[in-house]
This record gives sequence, C-alpha cells and structure tokens, in this order.
Amino acid sequence: MRRRVCYWLALSGLALAQPTPYSSQRPGGAYSDPLEQARDLTGRSIKTARVRAIHGTTLPGSSGWLMEHDPWLAYQMGRDLGIREFGREDGAFGDAGRLGGKVLDDQCTPIMSRDHINSCVACHNVPWRDMGAGITIQKNASTGRNTPHCFGGGVVEMIGQEIRSQLLAQADTNRNGWIELSEAHGAAVVHPVPGENLDYGNFADLDGDGRPDLNRIVYVCYLDSQGKRIPWARNLKDAGVGGYNLEVQVFGHGQRDRIGHGGLSSTLRAVSSNAWDMHSGLQACDPTASRESEHGLTQRSLAGCTQFFTGFTRDCGTRRSATGVSLDDPDRDGIFEEISEGDMDLLEFSLLNHPAPAEKVDSEFLQGQKHFQQVGCTECHRSSWNVPEDRRFFEIRTRYEKGVLTGSLQRLKGGPGHFSGIYSDFRRHDLGPDFHEVQYDGSRNRSFRTSPLWGVGSTGPYGHDGASLSLEEVIERHGGEAEKARQAYQTLEPGERARLLHFLRGLTLYSTETLACDVDGDGKIAQHFLVAGRDTGRECFNPEWLFRHPGKIEGLVEMDGPLISKALTNLMEAYQLRLPGLRDDDHDGFPDILQMSKWTIGRNR
Ligand code: HEC
Ligand code: HEC
Repeated sequence: MRRRVCYWLALSGLALAQPTPYSSQRPGGAYSDPLEQARDLTGRSIKTARVRAIHGTTLPGSSGWLMEHDPWLAYQMGRDLGIREFGREDGAFGDAGRLGGKVLDDQCTPIMSRDHINSCVACHNVPWRDMGAGITIQKNASTGRNTPHCFGGGVVEMIGQEIRSQLLAQADTNRNGWIELSEAHGAAVVHPVPGENLDYGNFADLDGDGRPDLNRIVYVCYLDSQGKRIPWARNLKDAGVGGYNLEVQVFGHGQRDRIGHGGLSSTLRAVSSNAWDMHSGLQACDPTASRESEHGLTQRSLAGCTQFFTGFTRDCGTRRSATGVSLDDPDRDGIFEEISEGDMDLLEFSLLNHPAPAEKVDSEFLQGQKHFQQVGCTECHRSSWNVPEDRRFFEIRTRYEKGVLTGSLQRLKGGPGHFSGIYSDFRRHDLGPDFHEVQYDGSRNRSFRTSPLWGVGSTGPYGHDGASLSLEEVIERHGGEAEKARQAYQTLEPGERARLLHFLRGLTLYSTETLACDVDGDGKIAQHFLVAGRDTGRECFNPEWLFRHPGKIEGLVEMDGPLISKALTNLMEAYQLRLPGLRDDDHDGFPDILQMSKWTIGRNR
C-alpha cells in the first residue's frame, strides 16, 4: 500500500528522493538535505536501498557475477542483508504473532511465535553489526534457546560437508551417492585430522529402532530402491525403503528428529532462509535449495555448497510474472518474492566468509589450554579439523600483543583448509539430566551438539538454553558422557582451574569492522590509511575500501566541530548501482530489468 503512495508521489514529481524507511538505511552525507536523504556521517549504516538481487553469473550485477568481479562488494551486500532492518513494504511481519514452524510429536504444538524480529543482527548481536551471539529466545520448551554466533560459519559448514563425505566414502561402496540397505553396516568413523578418530556410531540399525545408529548430528533421509526420496518414510522399516542418504546438521544446538523433517538444516543457506521466514516473515524463493536433484539433494549453490531437501523454502515460485518473479506469496501479505535466490547467494557468500573468532594468546592462556587437554575436555571439544578444499576467499588473522588485538587480511586461493582452535567434534552428546530439554508435550531432547568453543569468551550465557550464566556454571553442569571430564576438572588446583577459565575467556569474538587491521598487506597498521585519496583514519577492515571502485569518503567536514565524515561521495560508483542487475530507478525493490513495476504486480494480483 505504502509503496503505491510513494509511486504516485514520484509520478507527480513531489518526491524525487527515495524514501528511507528504516534507521539502518542512511545513504546521505554532510551535504545531503536530511529531509530527502537520511544521513549517517559515521558511514556505518546501510547505504543502498533494498533491491532484490538477481541469481546468475553472466548479467553484470547478478549475484555470481558480483562474487567473481567484485567479491568485496558481494560480501558487503550479503552482510548488509543480515544487518538491514526489514519492514512491511519488504514483506516482513506477514504472520506477526501467529505460532509457526515444525510441530512437536504431539502433532499440534508449533515451535515458536513467528515474525517477531526485523533483522538477523537483532538476535545475533554481540558484537554489534557482526553475526555474533545473542539472546535466548522463546521456544516449545520453557527453557528457551540461546543464539550462537556465526563467526567462522563457513569453516563449520565445510567441516559438516567433509564429515558427510567421509561417512559416505565408508558406506557407499558402489559410489552411487547413497547408502543401500545392503551397504548399511559397519562402524562409522570420522577423522578430523589424520590419526584422530571419532566414533560416529554404526551404519546399521543394531538397536532396532528403525534408524541407522549414527550419531544424532547425522540426519537420515529415506530412499526407495532406486534411490528416490520417499517423502513419507520415517524409518528403515517403512514400506519401500531401500536405503538412505544423510546430511550432517552441524548448525544449531540440536533438535529432535521430527515428523517429516530434520532439525536445523545443515547449510548456511538453508539455516538462513528458514530463519528469515520464521523470525521475520520473509519467505525466500530459492530454487537452489528447493529444486530436488537426486537422493534427497537439491542443487549446489554458486558459493559451492551442496544443498539438501531440508532447506526447502515456502515460496515455491509455482506462479511467476513474465520476468520470472514468483507470485506465490505464501503469507498473503501482497509482497512478492520477499527474498530472492540472488539474495540467498549473497547472504550465503558473506556467512561463508565471515571471519573466524580470535584468540588472546598469552602464557596463562597456553597453560590453561594444557589443563583443558589434560582433564579430557578435548575428547569432545576437538581443536583441529582439515578439509580438502577451502572455499573462502579471505580470512582475518589476528594477533594479541601487550593486551591489544589486531588483525591482518589474508587472501585465500582455494586448496586444502587446516583449521585449529574450533573445539568441537560435531557430534551430539547426552550430558545428563541437567542439560535435557523437556518440551511442552513431555517429549525430550537429550543430546546436543558439542558447542564449538571458539568465541566462547564473548558469548554468555551458556548452554543450548542459555541457562548457565557463567563459564564455571556451564562446566559444572557437565555430566552424563562428560562426567569424567567434569570430575577431572574439579580435581584441578584453584590456580589451574583459573588458568583453564582464562584460556576459555581468551577465545573471543571482535568487531570485524573496527578492529585495527592491516588490509593492504604491508605488515603495518597505518594511522592515516589513504583510500581513493582520502585519509580514512586508522587502517581497519572496511569492505568498502576493497571494492573494485573503492568507497571515497567525504573526509573532514564542519559539524558541531571538525569531523571526519565517512559517508561516501561516490555511492553509485562504489556500489555499482548502475549495473543492469542492480539498477532500480522506480524504487519498487526489484531491479528495473525485471520490470516488476506496480502495474505488473497489480495485474497479477
Ligand atoms: C529471533 C532470534 C534470531 C534471529 C532473528 C535470527 N537467528 Fe539465527 N539463530 C538463532 C538461534 C536461537 C539459533 C540456534 C538455533 C537452534 O539451536 O535451534 C540460531 C542459529 C543460527 C545459525 C547457526 C549457527 C551455529 O553455529 O549453530 C546461523 C548460521 C544463523 N542462525 C543465521 C541467521 C541468519 C542469517 C538470520 C537472519 C536471516 C538469523 N539467523 C536470524 C536466533 C535468531
Ligand atoms: C562428552 C563430551 C564433552 C566433554 C568431555 C566436555 N564437553 Fe563441554 N560441551 C559438550 C556439549 C555437548 C555441550 C553443549 C551443551 C548444550 O548445548 O547445552 C558443551 C558445552 C560446553 C560449554 C558451553 C559453550 C556454550 O557456548 O554454551 C563450555 C564452556 C564447555 N562445554 C566447556 C567444557 C570443558 C571446560 C570441558 C572439560 C572439563 C568440557 N566442556 C568437556 C560436550 C562435552
């Protein structure tokens, strides 16, 4: 509705400037008329209007084209999608207040209330403006769910895919991409690094519950004897089941396998589109994640990650406009294709490359790390993982010296990835009744993913439920499979225990944008870093400095005294807003090339 008003205003020439609906979008600088363009002289707001990204690799400005030709811009655009506050005209809050999501075993209790938050970083908010850790939210167990951080999200995703390939390589002896019943036997073992073994259970159903006895982090999807997914099959004993396929759900703390659907999907892309739908009422139309190929898999994303049917999106794109925009509108709020396949490409790309947490290494940290190992914490909290192919394009290496954390930008060029300091075995464990999650209907979640401890010094409260307010408390709560380690921890001398905690506190998150960081690779952090001829102040990792057309800041202005304005004077050029894939002169939120004008929308409704 509001969009229609804007359109008429624009037609009658009254409002030439684009409206700025939310505080997070402020493109203006010191000399903009604040009535026409909201200003932000700190330059940290989102500078571009909401325009859906086009999926593709050839059209200039499409998602894959940007990833190849202007990767830092693609990264920044994906990042902006996580930070942006979405509003009604973007399609947010269509089902506000209703309950939704998967239901419990009682078949009627949904997981939580829908459409309650307008941006990812409202929950993932420590540190601010990075996909950090955050609040504990209401769900279908009165104990709640704590928001984990997404630092190093790409590393976790790659490890998940590596675990899956190792498991398939063991059981799928005829190499047809899935596990036939005749192949489903033998111990499942995963090697995080050569020489280390992790017991992932057994490919057979030895306990007779109908599910292969693989660790709960493995989600099983049942196939017929031709390898086709049987959507209604829940169990090896169901009629027609000839085998299964698997995905490794490395994200989220752990859910119960539920009717028809697993827990939290196993890819950054699928977790994100589900979060957008569930928390903000923004339904993605994402064929990459929804178009089934074979054996329960969907497509490989442009960023290179295999997707699974559990990542299906509610907007199926069954009805489309002449230019291909989905007219399905599952929440019936009148806004089409609220999140596009191209948006998902860019968000996935930014999460894939999100820098990993840092370590504040000093001598006490190193001693604490030894105690951590001595008492057996590393039995589950594994430090090191290898993957054959690192798909990220950069990483921030951090250093800790004289109490100060700094970074340096490292560009990556594929090849194997060797990661350390993650501290998870990516298995689920039963830590005893103090950790069990009793859901409203009495059903119980007993096992949870070993929390990767990187970043843990910044992410309290702790546990899947956020019920432990300190590190001491959550360690003391360990029982069940971790009983021995907890007891060993309790026998440490107070000084040793303090060092172990010091080590954990040194595993830290940081603000990726404000950390002093060597981005030009000269081995120094400049105090007056020049970009496009302007002094931007202390060198830091601002993706805008690395764009194909680097952002040019306003620089020194007189505002309540002298101030370095970081608003950009070359916005159109830096953000490539004239490229056909991005240009939206009629401000309808769709690139003009899709001609998704009000008239098309009106005709089709
Ligand atoms: C209402 C709060 C909330 C919002 C909004 C939210 N998340 Fe989350 N996020 C969570 C919680 C809680 C979990 C843990 C879920 C679980 O264990 O079941 C989570 C988990 C994740 C994970 C997995 C991290 C890990 O290591 O386990 C990713 C990735 C993620 N969210 C991305 C997103 C993105 C992208 C958005 C925006 C599109 C988003 N989230 C919006 C609360 C939120
Ligand atoms: C048997 C496996 C196992 C062992 C051994 C173990 N842990 Fe854990 N740890 C877990 C699991 C599983 C969780 C997640 C619990 C949850 O999500 O509620 C966890 C959670 C944690 C957390 C909370 C992380 C967060 O972000 O909420 C900390 C801290 C922790 N462990 C430290 C330790 C320490 C210190 C030791 C050694 C004394 C140890 N753990 C031994 C499995 C283990």
